[in-house]
Amino acid sequence: MNLQQKRVRNNSNLKPYISKARIQERVKHIARKINKDYEGKVPIFIGVLNGSFIFISDLVRELKVDTEIDFLKLSSYGDSKISSGEVRLLKDLNCTIEGRDIIVVEDIIDSGLSIKYIRDLILSHKPASLEFVALLLKKGLSNLDFEIKYTGFRVPDKFVVGYGLDYAQKYRNLKEICILKN
Ligand code: IMP
Ligand code: MG
Repeated sequence: MNLQQKRVRNNSNLKPYISKARIQERVKHIARKINKDYEGKVPIFIGVLNGSFIFISDLVRELKVDTEIDFLKLSSYGDSKISSGEVRLLKDLNCTIEGRDIIVVEDIIDSGLSIKYIRDLILSHKPASLEFVALLLKKGLSNLDFEIKYTGFRVPDKFVVGYGLDYAQKYRNLKEICILKN
């Protein structure tokens, strides 16, 4: 057990939920599908900051297809565990979307509000195609009237941290995904 794992196990607020090995295996699985589906194309990956920064960097390094990368930043949570119900755009895209194959990379879909906002934003720029990758899915998937083509894991309706996901900006650097207790 390394030092970080020891610290997680000694932190009574954290319950390890998805191991580093399981995450890595799933990231490779998603990348294999994307490699197949986008053969001969050059998709633009759009990471949703801050939560997806580790996931997108692991994912694109498993790809064989040529890619471009850009980022969007949204805010809806602040430092709270509950969504404010309002999405704000904090950083817009720099790339040209029109006529391109777009793949949005999200850390987690909870209420589905953020991903709906992103979908409307991107569709307004007329991409050739648009698909979504989400590492984690909470309950809100049923609220969506479009498909999330590439998915990682279902998680219970609890707050999770690690592998990019934070609570009040903390815990993003954990290699595993943990449930935050209390
Ligand atoms: P939604 O708009 O309710 O689907 O929330 C999506 C965003 O809220 C995600 O992209 C995350 O950044 C954040 N979020 C939702 N649930 C969690 C969680 O359990 N841990 C950390 N961040 C979360
Ligand atoms: Mg996010």
